[in-house]
Amino acid sequence: MKKIDISSSINGIKLSSCIMNASGVLCCTEKELSEILMSSSGAVVTKSCTMVPRKGNLEPRYFEWNIGSINSMGLPNLGIDFYLNFLDRKKPKKPFFLSISGLSIEENYQLISKANISPNINAIELNLSCPNLVEKKNQVSLGYDFEKIYDFLKNIFKFYNKPLGVKLPPYFEDFHFEKMALILNQFPICFVTCINSLPNGLFVDTNKETTVLHPKKGFGGIGGRVIKPFSLANIRKFYVSLRKDISIIGCGGICYGKDIFEHILCGASAVQVGTQFFKEGIRVFDRLKNEFISILKEKNYSSIEEFKGKLNVI
Ligand code: SIN
Repeated sequence: MKKIDISSSINGIKLSSCIMNASGVLCCTEKELSEILMSSSGAVVTKSCTMVPRKGNLEPRYFEWNIGSINSMGLPNLGIDFYLNFLDRKKPKKPFFLSISGLSIEENYQLISKANISPNINAIELNLSCPNLVEKKNQVSLGYDFEKIYDFLKNIFKFYNKPLGVKLPPYFEDFHFEKMALILNQFPICFVTCINSLPNGLFVDTNKETTVLHPKKGFGGIGGRVIKPFSLANIRKFYVSLRKDISIIGCGGICYGKDIFEHILCGASAVQVGTQFFKEGIRVFDRLKNEFISILKEKNYSSIEEFKGKLNVI
């Protein structure tokens, strides 16, 4: 029987499976990260961290319904030192991506400097797209600030010499895709993760006539099945406009093996699972892997390279 290989490479970083966790979901504590290390997830990415630990926003700050989720977590995390220490103690056998999300550009430089001297990190996933910071109420998130982002990346690559990926917010206008690709193509970016949650959604509890979340007057980031078409669009737009050596990690709406197939067909090299991981727990990685392998068998593909990015346009 034909052997099906679902391994992948993120710009040279080898993943035994192209399916991994998304930052933000069940990847904050020692126990959660250890569980992902022991699972069939092809890599592990941490909760986005800051210089000092944060409790995050007030509860209720997460809600899910049949086809999606809304969150306004506000970056609860144990601080960068915890994640670097975890990494040094555990010496993972799979790629370890440190997600960082400083509350300011200066804090991001500090975080990146720390990560730069850590010997065991495979890459940073720089989160440019957290929509839920109450501290930054009237500020545009960096992923939407096309003026600042160029200088920011230019400064980072003056001193940072490890692989760096960026987690982007969803874009909707052709102009924005083109502008962002033009910026990213000028730097030695290792990968982009498309997409973070759709910012400023609102979910209403009809019975109580209230918002379901407390922070930010109920507005929060939308994730899960309902955002898949936006993830696919962002993956596709960047697949055609970024340099070919910049890998794309798809994120948003992965619930079944079929969703993984679609992300890769649009150009992703790997996928991250967020809302569905939260709903289903650690078993999600085995189930998705089995479903994805079955689809490849049916379609007679033996590796993801055979169909990656090969979406036909009618
Ligand atoms: C949060 O902690 O608010 C979510 C992080 C993110 O969406 O980047």
